[in-house]
Amino acid sequence: MPAVVIIGGQWGDEGKGRVVDFHARYCSMIARYSAGTNAGHTIMNEHGKFALHLVPAGIFYGDKVCVIGNGVVIDPDILLSEIEMLSSRGIDTSKLIISDRAHVIMPWHRVIDVADEKLRGSSAIGTTGTGTGPAFHDKVARIGIRVGDVLDSERFPDQLQKVLDYKNRVISGLYGELELQYDAIFAEYSAFGEKLRPYVTDTTSIAQDAHQRGEMILLEGAQGSLLDLDSGTYPFVTSSVPASVAAGGAVGIGIGPTAIERVVGVYKAYQTRVGNGPMPTELFDEDGALLLEGGGGAPGTSEYGTTTGRARRTGWFDGVLARYTSKLNGVTSVALTRLDSLSAFDRIRICVAYELDKERVTSLPASLEDSSRLKPIYEDLPGWKQDVSEVRHLDDLPANARQYVRRIEQLLDAPIDMISVGPERHQAIVTRDIFGGNI
Ligand code: GDP
Ligand code: IMO
Ligand code: MG
Repeated sequence: MPAVVIIGGQWGDEGKGRVVDFHARYCSMIARYSAGTNAGHTIMNEHGKFALHLVPAGIFYGDKVCVIGNGVVIDPDILLSEIEMLSSRGIDTSKLIISDRAHVIMPWHRVIDVADEKLRGSSAIGTTGTGTGPAFHDKVARIGIRVGDVLDSERFPDQLQKVLDYKNRVISGLYGELELQYDAIFAEYSAFGEKLRPYVTDTTSIAQDAHQRGEMILLEGAQGSLLDLDSGTYPFVTSSVPASVAAGGAVGIGIGPTAIERVVGVYKAYQTRVGNGPMPTELFDEDGALLLEGGGGAPGTSEYGTTTGRARRTGWFDGVLARYTSKLNGVTSVALTRLDSLSAFDRIRICVAYELDKERVTSLPASLEDSSRLKPIYEDLPGWKQDVSEVRHLDDLPANARQYVRRIEQLLDAPIDMISVGPERHQAIVTRDIFGGNI
């Protein structure tokens, strides 16, 4: 059986957690393969509402192996709180496994994340401040500390001392911050290590064996393709290595790329972004404010960040960027989310091209930094002004909503197999399962 990757097609927060929670039923293993605690995936199902940063969204089924793969960077404090929160709410976490190769977010990463942003001043990226970016920087610089290191009582003391000496020189010399203390960090991380030890294993072999046995593996992407280091709106991107795009999925759990046969692109029915950087279709008017407050869709789903609580920037669906990310990921199936959040609009706009220096362009310029030079060219479609959150069959959607969905499908050049009309697991119109079977 193939592995399937679920990725975000925009700037994150497309509803990946929600889509994984729905489709995990068909799989035996669900794995996070990149990013860190900067991710925030919201899940609403019969167990309640959950915000997960590290634990895969497949955890609610109880019988699925949930993997935090080698491509993830882990803040042990946040992971342990997440496990505790799930257990206290009756969710079985005994099938969670954590890669011994995953890198660890250390206290200096959080300090540097915040200090770097201060230094950037008006060019700040608007990071989540979780230390995720700096942990990836250290991984690439080959001075990262991995989960297996923390568990190794022979190696960890010396390794910690060496890295801390170096980091303290940076923290005090470059940023003027107070040096961090070895004893406190050693004690805290050794305790974290002992608590995590039962979950830590060689997840790479386990994933490879599962693939060999023909089991279905679902790879849960984090962030969105436009935040990807190589393909996104650089430098306003995240630092994940491997990439958050579909190609990173294989690397991040240690299987070959040929195992991935299907790629599900999750797209919100409009555009949002948290943090700074270009966003050609951003709205600063009352339509934007209405999208921020949930657009007349399901109550309690206004657009505030799951990780930081920041208001998300909002705008109309950007068909140019969406088509770009559909191709970038080789999307075979689309999950379109938050269709209900457009219910309040008389007229809905889709950006189909940009005007750049009087020319019409339909591809992504490498530098979008000055996106004020890009003028979106919109197509206007009529709204449906009707609650769609209880619709479960495509034919029962209002004709104007069906027209909107079809237009997006054309722009993405990939079939929309799932339309999410509310945040709850069951609030979806599904025409094909993600493995291509009609249902
Ligand atoms: P992720 O990071 O891609 O998993 O997305 P987030 O969880 O950060 O943000 C998605 C937000 O949209 C969450 O508040 C979800 O509960 C909500 N959501 C997901 N699908 C739908 C939908 O179809 N309708 C509405 N109204 N909300 C949705
Ligand atoms: P999920 O998985 C939305 C954004 C940050 C910032 C930039 C860099 O929930 O979709 P970082 O802390 O990664 O160095 O910040 O990336 N960002 C996200 N935005 N959803 C996410 O994840 C994000 N992860 C990072 O807001 O603009
Ligand atoms: Mg999110």
